[in-house]
Amino acid sequence: MSAGTGTFSIDGKNIDLAVREGTIGPSVVDIAPLYKNAGMFTYDPGFTSTASCESKITYIDGDEGVLLYRGYPIEQLAEHGDFLETCYLLLYGELPTASQKADFDYRVTRHTMVHEQMTRFFQGFRRDAHPMAILVASVGALSAFYHDSTDISDPQQRMIASMRMIAKVPTLAAMAYKYSIGQPFMYPKNNLDYTSNFLHMCFGVPCEEYVPNPVLARAMDRIFILHADHEQNASTSTVRLAGSSGANPFACIAAGVACLWGPAHGGANEAALKMLEEIGTPDRIPEFIARAKDKNDPFRLMGFGHRVYKNYDPRAKIMQRTTHEVLNELGIKDDPLLDVAMELERIALHDEYFIEKKLYPNIDFYSGITLKAMGFPTSMFTVLFALARTVGWIAQWKEMIEDPSQKIGRPRQLYTGAPQRDYTPIAQRS
Ligand code: SDX
Repeated sequence: MSAGTGTFSIDGKNIDLAVREGTIGPSVVDIAPLYKNAGMFTYDPGFTSTASCESKITYIDGDEGVLLYRGYPIEQLAEHGDFLETCYLLLYGELPTASQKADFDYRVTRHTMVHEQMTRFFQGFRRDAHPMAILVASVGALSAFYHDSTDISDPQQRMIASMRMIAKVPTLAAMAYKYSIGQPFMYPKNNLDYTSNFLHMCFGVPCEEYVPNPVLARAMDRIFILHADHEQNASTSTVRLAGSSGANPFACIAAGVACLWGPAHGGANEAALKMLEEIGTPDRIPEFIARAKDKNDPFRLMGFGHRVYKNYDPRAKIMQRTTHEVLNELGIKDDPLLDVAMELERIALHDEYFIEKKLYPNIDFYSGITLKAMGFPTSMFTVLFALARTVGWIAQWKEMIEDPSQKIGRPRQLYTGAPQRDYTPIAQRS
């Protein structure tokens, strides 16, 4: 919706720029005409004040700690729905009816097997390969196995590729885990729901029947819901940019997996747990708080702070509750890591530095404790984040591909390098 114009004045020239309003949240100034009319670019490294696209999928209010998927609060979806319902909502924009949900579950379930030759693909990795390295490679490799769903101009192929990735990434993730511990791959089981099937593929063995713990399956499913999408974060922006060139969907999602791996992003859950283990006991917390505040020390409190949330990450609150639920179910009464985490949170939330910089726990602060208690090694934590975020990346990629105004993303720069100069023969160089 148009909301009038803003005027940009520079060097005595006035340039009118359209202002557009969204449904909720900040309006935007359309700066597209700026270069043509003023011969200048805007400059915003890290995109702290830049809207890269128009989207109807996810809304975040960082000041209020609000997260909506297609308008529905994350708290309600995590409480009342399941992950595949959230997948349907993110992809199609509405909550499914009972028959739509049953059909969607059926279709996803029947795409969970991977091409049998992919098992040989894994043999090329060392057993101690990081599961994220395996996931980046194997998701990209899907385009080498499923050529019949790589034509992005065909809506049918886009839909099949989407279903294949939502269904097969859990299988690949479980295979990466099994390969790292030297256990045989477990085939998916169609009589299990999505998340129970994933736990079966991770923790089941051919020697005996695996019975998923319903409390842990529900907790895992809720963790997937919390991680499903998050507006134009770094990995989603990577997927959109890769997709804008027309790259096939598997390659675009593999690019998202690669970006998510970084410790400033999805890799923070692995880094946060390692930090809690390094702190070890509550009495060492002040030492780490001091390091986090020291400008000369690159150390940061992993799992704290966020580009958008300047209030409590609503996902972190649900994550904290889920942590207690899982520890109770497993009979873990006094987890030293949880003690350190809760004391660290208490101290940080009362520390002037963290208050002034509005640093709160984010989704990665508690997730590691929960996942470790469930039996996952630390190296699998970001893989689980990528598994859940696959649907968010696909929904955002689909929205971009279907946007008639979309074009290849190609940012410009502020050039501060050498001005033009002539080549010097090597004999004349000193
Ligand atoms: C995710 O974007 C998303 O939506 C991501 C995500 C998603 O769902 O996709 O929510 C998932 O990535 C969550 C974030 C996980 N990362 C971490 O927990 C790593 C630790 N956090 C920081 O690296 C940092 O907070 C970021 C990267 C998350 C945000 O960094 P910004 O927005 O670039 O903020 P900044 O680095 O400019 O920090 C502002 C100030 C700085 O101090 P000054 O230079 O102003 O003096 O706050 C300080 C920072 O030094 N600061 C921290 C801190 N985070 C920021 N100081 C200590 N510990 C921290 N964790």
